[in-house]
Amino acid sequence: MANYFHRHLGAKLFVSYLAIILVGVIVLVTASQFILPGAFNRHMAGMGMTSGMMGNQGMGNADNMSQLYMDFRASFNEALIYAGLAAMIVAVLFSMYLSRSVIAPVHAMSLATQRITDGRFDERVRVEGKDELAQLAIRFNQMAEKLSEVETMRRRLIGDVSHELRTPLTAIKGSMEGLMDGVLPATEETFQQIHAEADRLNRLVDDLQELSRVEARAYELDLRSKDVSALVQTVTRRLAPQFEMKQILLDLQLAPDLPRVLADEDRAVQLLTNLLGNALQYTPEHGRVIVSARRSNHEVMISVRDNGIGIPPEHLPQIFDRFYRADASRSRRAGGGSGIGLTISRALVEAHGGRIWVESAGEGQGSTFTFTMPVAK
Ligand SMILES: Nc1ncnc2c1ncn2[C@@H]1O[C@H](COP(=O)(O)OP(=O)(O)OP(=O)(O)O)[C@@H](O)[C@H]1O
Ligand SMILES: [Mg+2]
Repeated sequence: MANYFHRHLGAKLFVSYLAIILVGVIVLVTASQFILPGAFNRHMAGMGMTSGMMGNQGMGNADNMSQLYMDFRASFNEALIYAGLAAMIVAVLFSMYLSRSVIAPVHAMSLATQRITDGRFDERVRVEGKDELAQLAIRFNQMAEKLSEVETMRRRLIGDVSHELRTPLTAIKGSMEGLMDGVLPATEETFQQIHAEADRLNRLVDDLQELSRVEARAYELDLRSKDVSALVQTVTRRLAPQFEMKQILLDLQLAPDLPRVLADEDRAVQLLTNLLGNALQYTPEHGRVIVSARRSNHEVMISVRDNGIGIPPEHLPQIFDRFYRADASRSRRAGGGSGIGLTISRALVEAHGGRIWVESAGEGQGSTFTFTMPVAK
């Protein structure tokens, strides 16, 4: 029995209501026993009917009075019992209703939690009313939604990663089998091919590690006031030899009154390197790349524009998605990237409190990537 009360919130609530009623009844009965005789005498005196004022008829009246008092008290007690009973019934009904309305949602949440634990992430509870329990239900549903998103992302990530790893692994395995069977000649070219695929695997794993670090925000942003021109020049100086090799013109158009931005230098350099690296990779020889920066309210807008291969409109919405390449087969063949660079870039921009977007008029029309950084106070 005690165990039952221990384990059921409803029973506890019910008992506490009963206790309150009981205490009320005891207080009422005790108080009435003490107060009633005095009050009775006082009221009778007010009506000129106490025994002391009745002269020679005093004794007979005293008897009448005590009889009157006894009758009055009996009716008072009777009324008290009925009132107590009625209060008890109302309180019991009320407590049953209240405990149900508290326990039902708690119970529903408990069941939903169990189902989520069992892996059913689509589980939600009904939200009724506006009280704290309803708030709890809303929060619970938000948590379930988040869990479900994380689970979907996890599944997709595993699928994507296995797919990405399979391509170079299949190539390496194929080449090795060819070598063992003597179908492939053991020339330097073959070995170089295998080495290139292994290298690709290596890069992919590095990129993935970086992506998971950036997306989980598992790094400290060292935000300081930085000069945009200096940041841009750091990157363009580093990449200049590669631009020269491909004979791509690299132009800087930085507004003269550029304010300083609040940025983590290493991360900002990484971001610009990703965008400029893409512009370099996706622009044919003798092309042109322009880096421009200008102020817009409380932000500085930095753009990397190229006149390269461009991006067809149907690919624009997904271009920042993980592993997304506008032309996967070409990227793979040309030793292209893994489609992680822009995903990392977006995470970096968002960590700085900025936005990033892409514009392209279509295939062969070049592309412009623009991101914002907050102006340093
Ligand atoms: N400047 C650009 N011009 C045309 N297409 C681009 C440009 N930048 C990116 N893209 C397209 O967007 C895709 C994704 O770019 P992202 O930088 O994320 O990956 P990647 O360059 O393929 O590989 P990596 O992860 O090594 O950077 C590219 O594969 C390419 O199709
Ligand atoms: Mg890239």
